[in-house]
Amino acid sequence: MTRVLLIIGGGIAAYKSLELIRRLRERGASVRTVLTRAAEKFVTPLSAGALSNDRVFTDLFDLDDEREIGHIRLARDTDLIVVAPATADLLSKMATGQASDLATAVLLATDKPVLAAPAMNPRMWDHPATRRNVQQLQSDGIHLIGPMTGEMAERGEGGVGRMAEATEIADAVFGLLAGVVPSAKGPLSGRHVLVTSGPTHEPIDPVRYIANRSSGKQGHAIAAAAAALGARVTLVSGPVTIADPKGVDVVKVETAAQMLTAVETALPADIAVFAAAVADWRVTSAADQKIKKAKGTVAPVLSLAENPDILGAIAARGSRRPALVIGFAAETENVVAHAQKKRKEKGADWIVANDVSPGTGTFGGDRTTVHLVTGEDTASWPPQSKEAVGRQLMEQAAAWLASEQVDV
Ligand code: C5P
Repeated sequence: MTRVLLIIGGGIAAYKSLELIRRLRERGASVRTVLTRAAEKFVTPLSAGALSNDRVFTDLFDLDDEREIGHIRLARDTDLIVVAPATADLLSKMATGQASDLATAVLLATDKPVLAAPAMNPRMWDHPATRRNVQQLQSDGIHLIGPMTGEMAERGEGGVGRMAEATEIADAVFGLLAGVVPSAKGPLSGRHVLVTSGPTHEPIDPVRYIANRSSGKQGHAIAAAAAALGARVTLVSGPVTIADPKGVDVVKVETAAQMLTAVETALPADIAVFAAAVADWRVTSAADQKIKKAKGTVAPVLSLAENPDILGAIAARGSRRPALVIGFAAETENVVAHAQKKRKEKGADWIVANDVSPGTGTFGGDRTTVHLVTGEDTASWPPQSKEAVGRQLMEQAAAWLASEQVDV
């Protein structure tokens, strides 16, 4: 019989863990439960005990427990440990290896797979401290399911932070025991996200080209963030020197024309983010051979033709238009007003307006200051890393898709 040790943390989602006990037992598992002190404020040992038909453990210093079973045995006499809800506090204690109560001592003592189902307020989930803890836990081999997007128990609060449903967690438990890593389950699971990134190179001849200073850092960070939230991601990238993000399909292109073809080929997508700095012009007829410099000849004059507007073309599509089309605008003045205008002109749903005025260090830098223009609303985000912008943007996009109930 599959044995599951369920650690219930102290969060409002704890009631769903009682249902989880049911779902696991229905599928033939035996469930033993540990409640943290805070969890007892939300559910009682009595109800957990009745549903699991087993003892419920709460206290590290309960001598009887220590004599009869002990936290080490509790940690090992199981096939898998589930932490649900994994609160911000529990995740932090797990990430730093604390063992100050029974739940954390068991988690430190175990040699079995651990599956955590985070649940917390979206702001707590977004906090850099929680980001660090989650990263640490993932590199320690802890498996995560969720959190998901949607309405929180607190009225009016939406975003990423809702605990996965009991059936989803039960599926992940049995999947994990069968060797399927559940990390792909997130708020963008089942979604396809298409991202353009980097500059384009427009050839003059086989050895020379017109380019720009785009590093691709922002677009690549968005692609990585979408993948981390469980999406299937296609990243269409111009020539960059940074590494491909993990878990992302990368299509490498050089010119704007190739980028447009790659984007069209990658459709359909639920979300399309156009972060590439596409060259506005290409050389009308690039030379087949290297243009020679010879004494006495005059310098060649380049004739330029306008490149296709990739964002504009995709946003204007009648069929297979992504549900959410996001463009970027680099501005040096009247940033928000220009972005609002660009949103309308290009037919984009959202515009991320980048303040690239001198001194912001946005171009090629690691940090950026953006305003998110969504219809009539504009949110000004504080200066932060391009990774943080990518994460926040994709979390907000996931929440939008969930609220619009755009079906997977
Ligand atoms: O018109 P502008 O270049 O300022 O618009 C910027 C936005 O449009 C960015 O999202 C960029 O990726 C996209 N764009 C595009 N194809 C072009 C020019 C810009 O997709 N040819």
